[in-house]
Amino acid sequence: MATPSSSPDTLLILGAGYTGKELTRQALHSDYRIIATSRDDDTLQWLEQQGAVAVRWSVGDDPQLWARYLGESTALVYSIPTLFRDYQPATNGTLPRHIQPVDEVIELCRQEKVSRFIYLSSSSVYGDHGGEWIDETADLAPTSPVGKMRADIEHFLLDQNVDFPINIARLVGIYGPGRTLLKYIQSGRYTLVDDGSRVSNRIHVHDIARAILTLVERGPDEHRVFNFTDGHPQPSRDLVNFVCHKADIDLPPEESLEEYARRRNDPNAIARRKNSVRLLNDRLRNELNFSLVYPDVFAGYDAIFEQRDRP
Ligand SMILES: NC(=O)c1ccc[n+]([C@@H]2O[C@H](COP(=O)([O-])OP(=O)(O)OC[C@H]3O[C@@H](n4cnc5c(N)ncnc54)[C@H](OP(=O)(O)O)[C@@H]3O)[C@@H](O)[C@H]2O)c1
Repeated sequence: MATPSSSPDTLLILGAGYTGKELTRQALHSDYRIIATSRDDDTLQWLEQQGAVAVRWSVGDDPQLWARYLGESTALVYSIPTLFRDYQPATNGTLPRHIQPVDEVIELCRQEKVSRFIYLSSSSVYGDHGGEWIDETADLAPTSPVGKMRADIEHFLLDQNVDFPINIARLVGIYGPGRTLLKYIQSGRYTLVDDGSRVSNRIHVHDIARAILTLVERGPDEHRVFNFTDGHPQPSRDLVNFVCHKADIDLPPEESLEEYARRRNDPNAIARRKNSVRLLNDRLRNELNFSLVYPDVFAGYDAIFEQRDRP
């Protein structure tokens, strides 16, 4: 069972991608020591420039490259996606291949100790709930290979009998500076599926990083799952209209879900456009006493546009 954690002064971020970099910025600002991994030259250079310890590491490389920074004053944030697109169950009593990288990290944390283990998961674990409002207690019924892998990893983590709390953050659609619907529409790859009536759950990257730091600082002393979402899901059409109007660009082309499915032929992409849930964030707000800077996607995009328009 998990026992109360000590207060960490170090963050070890496995996978300093879009979220990991924002977390790095905020955590350095709060005087944490940051150790972060990437496989990308530019990211490694950026991390060093910020004052983080940058570690070039890919799953399968020697984990001692970062494991030497583990200890009771280190919180670990696992921000690496599932490494496979298709689901393969376990064979011959071994762990499924999608759990193995997480298992390796947990084993090192067990040996070297950490103050907390935070796993960035995804709302794809819920599957389709017909647009109902749900919280973290809802049934997990993933319909996509990635959602099934995430659900397996979550079960595996929540079953761990370790001396530190494991928290799972179920992330929804991440947006923020440099990762916007505007970019997507302008790339010509975005289509409005089925009239854009399906709601989507979103969260600004700035709030994700703040919420992770809140978990690090005052998360529960037991294993616990949290939805990381702004709690104000919106029909895709409303956001698309908002963005196109603000940027003064044409609306994207439309297509039916059937056309989209035929064209993409990717069960993960299709599930993202098909499944419908409205996600509550009461646990995040009430248990962690967390308030969002960007309470809905319109507030978030307003801020991004303001930044963009600044001379
Ligand atoms: N984007 C979304 O809307 C969304 C929604 C729900 C959940 N999530 C999940 O939330 C987490 C953070 O999302 P994000 O958008 O910030 O992710 P991201 O920008 O794609 O960053 C992922 C990080 O994982 C690292 N990584 C990938 N494969 C790796 C491998 N084989 N070995 C070592 N490192 C590897 C990447 O390394 P490099 O730095 O070398 O590229 C990168 O640093 C991810 O797990 C993502 O799947 C995302």
